[in-house]
Amino acid sequence: MKFIRKITYTVTETWLGLGFLLGFFLVLALYLTGFPQFASTETYGLSTEMERFAPKEEVALTPPSQGGETKIPQEELKKAEESENIEEPQETEEIVPMNPICDFSDWRYDGCEMHGDARAVGHENNSIIYFIPPPSLIQTAEAQEWKIRSQSRKIVGIREVIVKSLNSSSPPAPECTIRKNVPALVFATNGLTFNIWHAFSDVLLPLFTTSRAFDGEVQFLITDYQDWFVRKYNKIFKALTNYEIIDLDNDREVRCYEHIVVGLRGHRELSIDPARAPRNYDTFQFRMFVRDAYSLPLWLDVPYKANDSLDKKPRMMIILRGGGRKFENADEIIAAAEQVGFEVIKSEPGFTEDMNDFAKKVDSCDVLLGAHGAGLTNMIFLRTNAILFQVVPWGNMNWACNIFYNDPAREMRLRVLEYNITAKESTLYEKYGKDSVVINDPEQLEKWGNASVAYWGEQNLRLDISRFTPVLEQALQLVKA
Ligand SMILES: *[C@@H]1O[C@H](CO)[C@@H](O)[C@H](O)[C@H]1NC(C)=O
Ligand SMILES: *[C@@H]1O[C@H](CO)[C@@H](O)[C@H](O)[C@H]1NC(C)=O
Ligand SMILES: *[C@@H]1O[C@H](CO)[C@@H](O)[C@H](O)[C@H]1NC(C)=O
Ligand SMILES: *[C@@H]1O[C@H](CO)[C@@H](O)[C@H](O)[C@H]1NC(C)=O
Ligand SMILES: *[C@@H]1O[C@H](CO)[C@@H](O)[C@H](O)[C@H]1NC(C)=O
Repeated sequence: MKFIRKITYTVTETWLGLGFLLGFFLVLALYLTGFPQFASTETYGLSTEMERFAPKEEVALTPPSQGGETKIPQEELKKAEESENIEEPQETEEIVPMNPICDFSDWRYDGCEMHGDARAVGHENNSIIYFIPPPSLIQTAEAQEWKIRSQSRKIVGIREVIVKSLNSSSPPAPECTIRKNVPALVFATNGLTFNIWHAFSDVLLPLFTTSRAFDGEVQFLITDYQDWFVRKYNKIFKALTNYEIIDLDNDREVRCYEHIVVGLRGHRELSIDPARAPRNYDTFQFRMFVRDAYSLPLWLDVPYKANDSLDKKPRMMIILRGGGRKFENADEIIAAAEQVGFEVIKSEPGFTEDMNDFAKKVDSCDVLLGAHGAGLTNMIFLRTNAILFQVVPWGNMNWACNIFYNDPAREMRLRVLEYNITAKESTLYEKYGKDSVVINDPEQLEKWGNASVAYWGEQNLRLDISRFTPVLEQALQLVKA
């Protein structure tokens, strides 16, 4: 059950996570008891084999015009449907049972993929994706319906999309008003995305994994469209799609595609498993993609200070947190870093509206220093071989520091430094006392279920400068090496 603990922390990383968490266990319970429609042992690769569910015959009403969107005149639609109706059913060919189009078998995400006649219809609550099986199958198909949390994880609170696979006794799907000859990808932007770690780990990185191989020839249909999110990360969206992004729930068209993918394929925390990714994309390629999207020079992808022609001090960005795990003696830490020889740039807590400027700032740094927390996600904008320098708070947090940041950082080809604080450098030491369970037995708090409240939420850090300075010096040596 280790992975449950993992999830617990991922979610409680943000303080709104607790509500979602409760739901997660419900989902987990359902998941472990199995979904009847997937009782078979067959697996249905969602991520890598885009062509898997390609039907044997075409059901397109009219050939779509190249490259663009086609508004369909109503008369033509009628004619086409009539001709479709009089089309002879396939001769006595072997009846191929419908593949399930939705797959719940991955522990991390749910997803669907349809090829053929797929239609997206917006709805203020739950938008609907219709799948109409080809004529040879529609007689024998079972009508089915799924509700999909259309992000990259099975967490509650993500807006669900309804996927309906029809058969000949189903009420007909609404008629197409717009047809597009590129695939569509349906996903949600709500959830925990206000937190930058979740923005990248839950949406942007899995979005890259799921859609990059389309080379921009894909349309995004976003459910629970968060305008601020799309604006904040618009460079990443623009780099992934050549088409208008649709606010699906508020859309009143019936959008038809020959290929619709629902949900994002997330593999691990802030990380891609190349073995399961199209074109074997990996986390390093994701970082390079993000650099490119933000116009950070790819050819300059060496740490800043490696440029000897710059008569400048190495640069360190220090992430200052507002809430839990704040550096109480930030000024002393900054002074020590400057003393050692760094130029220090402060990243103040708060919402970063302009990611372009911020990305450039991070790019200009050799070291990104911060206590375990979402701000470290900005390591994505660092250059190859730059240093992620994570301060590990009190309370058995090494595994979380590794899984959420250090491991992804190494995959991104950054270097990693860490500083484990001692109990005395935690404000919990004063608050609860040196003999308390909080200081002496973090595992007991994990069992009680309030470890995250104490260590993630209540704890601030006051670094012992004389103990910390040698590690700053080590960082400087690494930069100069
Ligand atoms: C959407 O959900 C809200 C809240 O449950 C409900 O009041 C509203 O009637 C629903 N809208 C439609 C069109 O069903
Ligand atoms: C269509 O699917 C429904 C629900 O699975 C089923 O009850 C019905 O018999 C199916 N219709 C046909 C014609 O197979
Ligand atoms: C090195 O510094 C020079 C002078 O500022 C600048 O033109 C060049 O782009 C820098 N190169 C790298 C690799 O940072
Ligand atoms: C920090 O603590 C962990 C767990 O005890 C240990 O594995 C790691 O090596 C320590 N890191 C440093 C830099 O001392
Ligand atoms: C954690 O929960 C236990 C059991 O409910 C309680 O006794 C303890 O005071 C709590 N500790 C903290 C730090 O919240």
